Amino acid sequence: MEINGTVYDILHNKSGEVFTTSPQNSVYDAVRLMGEKNIGALVVVEGERIIGVLSERDYSRKVVLRGRTSRDTTVGEIVSSPAITVASRDGIDKCMQLMTGKRIRHLPVVDEGRLVGLVSIGDLVSWVMQSQRHTIQQLQGYIAGDYPG
Ligand SMILES: NC(=O)c1ccc[n+]([C@@H]2O[C@H](COP(=O)([O-])OP(=O)(O)OC[C@H]3O[C@@H](n4cnc5c(N)ncnc54)[C@H](O)[C@@H]3O)[C@@H](O)[C@H]2O)c1
Repeated sequence: MEINGTVYDILHNKSGEVFTTSPQNSVYDAVRLMGEKNIGALVVVEGERIIGVLSERDYSRKVVLRGRTSRDTTVGEIVSSPAITVASRDGIDKCMQLMTGKRIRHLPVVDEGRLVGLVSIGDLVSWVMQSQRHTIQQLQGYIAGDYPG
């Protein structure tokens, strides 16, 4: 199935705020922020520079499984870096390929060096379901004869 649409279309329908942390912060504070915001990843930034992405998976694999503690580990020690990013103009099909190929679930969106958003695997699934519903409605309308022309 061909998947239309761009990252911009997804960002357009969600809140503009991107939650970030910095390499110096403790993993505990970062995980707490993820819990408060009910999200699974933070973009790790140093000023304007994007260092990488910190995900729940980084926490479980690099802290819990290695016997470290989140209060004594900094974000910089476990961040997945460099970040794999997309631009607003990129297609949703490219995002799906990146997530599948690189086994990641979050893509920061960067336009001209500036962090403008983030898309997650759930955002993509939701987009695809929505566009399939739309196509089905159009086809039903066409079969029922409501379709103009
Ligand atoms: N119904 C929807 O439109 C929708 C969209 C996304 C996710 N979900 C559901 O949420 C659950 C988890 O979603 P997920 O696996 O995609 O990951 P997730 O929990 O990290 O993401 C949930 C939402 O938060 C946003 N988000 C995540 N990190 C962010 C950050 N640092 N800054 C700004 N926004 C951020 C994502 O873009 C997504 O919209 C799943 O059950 C999924 O089905 C639903």
